Amino acid sequence: MPKTIRILIFTIALLSAASVSAQERFSFFQASTPESVARLLNLADLRDDDVIVDLGSGNGLIVLTAAKLNSKLRGWGVDIDPKLVAESNGVAQAQGVADRVKFLHQNAFDAELREATVITMWLFPELMRLLRPTILERARPGTRILTSTWDLGTWPADKVEGDNPSVHLWIVPAKITGNWSWEFTLAGQRVNYAAVLDQQFQAAEGAVRASTNREVLTDVKLTGDNISFNLAITLEGMGLTRHEFTGKVRGERIEGTARVDLPDGSRVELPWRATRTAKSDYFAPTGVNMP
Ligand SMILES: C[S@@+](CC[C@H](N)C(=O)[O-])C[C@H]1O[C@@H](n2cnc3c(N)ncnc32)[C@H](O)[C@@H]1O
Repeated sequence: MPKTIRILIFTIALLSAASVSAQERFSFFQASTPESVARLLNLADLRDDDVIVDLGSGNGLIVLTAAKLNSKLRGWGVDIDPKLVAESNGVAQAQGVADRVKFLHQNAFDAELREATVITMWLFPELMRLLRPTILERARPGTRILTSTWDLGTWPADKVEGDNPSVHLWIVPAKITGNWSWEFTLAGQRVNYAAVLDQQFQAAEGAVRASTNREVLTDVKLTGDNISFNLAITLEGMGLTRHEFTGKVRGERIEGTARVDLPDGSRVELPWRATRTAKSDYFAPTGVNMP
């Protein structure tokens, strides 16, 4: 076999082995203390309609405690160790919560997260970081993620409490990166807006073109599917116009309200309906009205 083909086969084998071993990497089992579970669930601020999922559920303590704290919530745990899964299901049965809580023998990377509203983890730090893209892809915006002791690397926590262990909370942000457009009628004049938004996890920024001018958005906040930002821009034929946008991201649409302070001192409140677009008018024509 030619040397280059041997090297190619070796490289492919190495890459596949790396991805399998990453997926099957083991955190050994150690149960959280009841105190740290209580603190974790306190930070989760459980609700009746919550669906809690523990990735690497061990003896089931987190999900079983949540079910005891709230008699309505549902949930499940997944663990790579079938003995721990059987044991946890036995305890759920004995505690009379098996109708709401179950445990599955599953790799955390294969867990169903679409229905989850709360996801908990106490795994080796690298395993939790490797799970980050899976969570961001599958969990819905607004889902609360909680960990004990370790964080999620470059995804900054929305809240951290206490020490030994510290407990951490993240809110899964909506995906807003891309081009968005909407229009308003202001003082009898139709104004088209073309925004380009970008995000690193929950940190978001953007710029907008309205009529022929461009401005940077300020105070951009993204929490789950809630988005808000401000815009002060000079609109052609009108003057400096200040906007406060608040809305909810619903996939390819944003729906909310804009409060607009017009140059004549009046204020209007308008429904804000933005749509994600493949192309953006932000970029064309360029250079208009530039000094
Ligand atoms: C430190 S224990 C935490 C148990 C439980 N969550 C708690 O806080 O008490 C980590 C658990 O993760 C499980 N585990 C490790 N790697 C896993 C994987 N890839 N998928 C699912 N479970 C995994 C282990 O079997 C172990 O039970």
